[in-house]
Amino acid sequence: MLNLWYKNAVIYCVDVETFMDSNGDGIGDFGGLADRLDHVEALGATCIWLVPFYPTPNRDNGYDVTDFYAVDPRLGTLGDFVAFTHAAHDRGLRVIVDLVANHTSIDHPWFQEARQDPNSRYRDWYVWSKEKPENIHEGVVFPGVQDATWTYDEVAQAWYMHRFYPHQADLNIANPEVRAELEKVMGFWLQLGVSGFRLDAVPFLIEYRGVPEEERPKEDPHEYLDRMRDFVSWRRAEAMLLAEANITMDQVDEYFGPTGDRLHMIFNFMLNQHLFLALSRNDAEPIRRVMAQTPAIPPKSQWASFLRNHDELDLGRLSDAERGEAFAAFGPEPEMQAYERGIRRRLAPMLEGDDRRLKQAFSLMFALPGTPVLWYGDEIGMGEDLSLPERNSVRTPMQWADEPNAGFSNGSAGRLVRPVVSAGAFGYERVNVAAQRDLDGSMMSTVQRLARTRRACPEVGWGRCQVLDTNETSVLALRYDWEGETILILHNLADRTVEVRVALEGIERLRPLLCDQDDRAMHDASDPISLNPYGYRWLRAQGERR
Ligand code: GLC
Ligand code: CA
Repeated sequence: MLNLWYKNAVIYCVDVETFMDSNGDGIGDFGGLADRLDHVEALGATCIWLVPFYPTPNRDNGYDVTDFYAVDPRLGTLGDFVAFTHAAHDRGLRVIVDLVANHTSIDHPWFQEARQDPNSRYRDWYVWSKEKPENIHEGVVFPGVQDATWTYDEVAQAWYMHRFYPHQADLNIANPEVRAELEKVMGFWLQLGVSGFRLDAVPFLIEYRGVPEEERPKEDPHEYLDRMRDFVSWRRAEAMLLAEANITMDQVDEYFGPTGDRLHMIFNFMLNQHLFLALSRNDAEPIRRVMAQTPAIPPKSQWASFLRNHDELDLGRLSDAERGEAFAAFGPEPEMQAYERGIRRRLAPMLEGDDRRLKQAFSLMFALPGTPVLWYGDEIGMGEDLSLPERNSVRTPMQWADEPNAGFSNGSAGRLVRPVVSAGAFGYERVNVAAQRDLDGSMMSTVQRLARTRRACPEVGWGRCQVLDTNETSVLALRYDWEGETILILHNLADRTVEVRVALEGIERLRPLLCDQDDRAMHDASDPISLNPYGYRWLRAQGERR
């Protein structure tokens, strides 16, 4: 039995800690999130993705877990989690949760036992080396703040491997006990009603770095993902795995699996990076280039499209020169950059608060092949706080209203989990939900319309996508065909009006669906179509049948 809901979903990502505080202690919580489901529902999202909310010393925003079976007490209880999930389901919203399977916090009781007792059953749950490994500086994920991937532990008298920060020890995924435990973790949350997992750091999860050859499973490491897929599907037919896997196009087949039975969804990092390059150049060529390189994927598989997320904008897949262009356009100051490859800013300030460019960027995300994923706050055009370390710059409290603490908390400002962004073009006084709600033309209303239109165009989630040639290189022209229906979506990345000609085989007339300006007239498919500077149009081919 298959349930392919994710093919046509709109996913909204929330950090419980910074979304809404219900008890005035300055920390967002499940009660607050449950109270604000109106907002998520009104936006047109169909699924909420929660970044980690598990007990944690919080040295990596919760991606350093100390208990996979519980809720961080600052955010609520398991009961509050269930109450929230229930409330979400009541509104037809699915919930997926982050699964950090690659590593645990070194404070996790498993690691504590492992380091203290070489005979502990947990010793082999991690990756150790008695001798100092050869190149301990190789393979760091956070250059500039992370020095090594192996750290000597005095207690264990051995080196442990960590792909990420030293406080995040990698689990030994070659160990069948670890695999069995991770199944229990997934089974636990599925039983509590989640519809799947955002799988953290998948390429690192399936590597056997540091594990002796003879202890490695003999199968292709990607096949471990088949095991995971089978397990979650057996427990819950609709369970979906959404992978954080920053892969190149030649790896796509092995991650989705030859028949689409591996990962259900993968974030399209390649397209994301080239989209920003395209925006920096006012030219759609980089998007067309990546789309031309993208292999066809099985019908059950799906891309996840995004603009920004809770991390830095990772530009590591661009050439040095291209990255330089994107840096110059969107993050010229060193303090705006992170880890030598990325930009730690939110979308709105990157696009200088330019309404037209922002709305076009959202339209692009909804129009690209795949399922759109939004980062909370971007829908109202929130900004960042560069005084916060690393990626916390883009994780400030949700701006609900022009009220104390942006309406996020009624506690004292000094106690907030992170300061709210105040004053200036992106401060909560100007940028907030209350000011944009039901206001025609606001950023939030535009995102709402886009979400609604996208959901009414299953062709984008399901159909065959073709990039059409036009007479303007600034224009991205996408044609989707599915079950006898055709959609045409045009974006003009240039700061000037263009008249576009596209060859639309077999189509006579186009009915407007959505546009950056009022557009109600039918179009003759053979006429050129006019696009505003940074303009966009969504059109549906009018068939004989209606
Ligand atoms: C993923 C998360 C990131 C985290 C890292 C380590 O990349 O998105 O926030 O720091 O994994 O868990
Ligand atoms: Ca709270």
